Amino acid sequence: MNILVTGGVGYIGAHTCVALLEAGHQVIIADNLCNSKVETLDRIRQITNKELTFYEVDITNELSLNNIFLSHYIDGVIHLAGFKAVGESIEKPLSYYYNNIVSTMLLAKACQKYGVRRFVFSSSATVYGDNEVPFIETMKLLPTTNPYGETKVMSERILTDIAKANPSWAVALLRYFNPVGAHESGLIGESPNGVPNNIMPYITQVAKGRLEKLKIFGSDYPTEDGTGIRDYIHVMDLAEGHVAALNNITEGVHIYNLGTGRGISVLELIEAFEKANGIKIPYEIVGRRPGDVASCYADVSNAKRKLGWIAKRDIFTMCRDAWRFENRYKE
Ligand code: WQD
Repeated sequence: MNILVTGGVGYIGAHTCVALLEAGHQVIIADNLCNSKVETLDRIRQITNKELTFYEVDITNELSLNNIFLSHYIDGVIHLAGFKAVGESIEKPLSYYYNNIVSTMLLAKACQKYGVRRFVFSSSATVYGDNEVPFIETMKLLPTTNPYGETKVMSERILTDIAKANPSWAVALLRYFNPVGAHESGLIGESPNGVPNNIMPYITQVAKGRLEKLKIFGSDYPTEDGTGIRDYIHVMDLAEGHVAALNNITEGVHIYNLGTGRGISVLELIEAFEKANGIKIPYEIVGRRPGDVASCYADVSNAKRKLGWIAKRDIFTMCRDAWRFENRYKE
């Protein structure tokens, strides 16, 4: 199928485009490069030995977006473009609501206008708020702690209501847990601008000596070792989850947790990284980070049952692949 991937040059996007191309789909990317680098396109081509089409556009610009739909027959869209830093969203709520909601609405409007019925949306486990773990798709969502999370809840609601009013629409809402790692080639991976917010790129920069030590945000959580628990999933497993959702998409709205179903604490992650790569990670325990929940991991039975998809790569592979990218990328 001809798939339009918004945000396809980004961390999740590039890996998803690799998986789509390797599954035989044609890929058209729309990305404004605000949080990604144009050389990633050649690395996607290098990995897959396939061609792809790229438009440097901001999809909140309706004219630019419609031009893409006028230039290609599109079978489905995968909407990944969006601002995604939790802390930043608390400081800049308007830019998060505007960018993330307007982009979803304009993309849906273009799909309606040009008869595109398949819509895969990048959502997040953040939508569960402070629910009891493991998070299950049928759970009632609780308020999230930040505007970023609210934009995901609102986008899910907008797409759900459109699908209810248009029974021919096929919508998949993919709730990501914690994507980490990199493609095994080391050619693409997570390279945040500035000091990383997320833990894995922070750890790899400590391992590289670019940062002095990891600060562990809190060791007084109600968890076994007191540190925060998360469901880390290899970014290539996540990418393959998008292909599975697209290949099996049916009319109506379908929600899938994309995680491993396994919770890992910060201290366990550090230990896994040290074991996988033979590198010591110095750390210091500091206070909790506002907005963090104690524990977040997925019930993954729905994606397994309906998509035949499960995450295959273990935490050591995630740590090895993340470290390889940090080394190769920073060459
Ligand atoms: C993981 C764990 C921290 C950094 C966020 C978003 C989520 C998704 C993924 C977009 C927590 C601890 C972290 C550090 C630490 N983003 N930590 N020191 O917050 O679970 O999820 O990123 O979709 O929506 O909320 O990821 O990697 O920031 O934190 O101790 O320097 O590591 O407290 O327990 P998080 P994270």
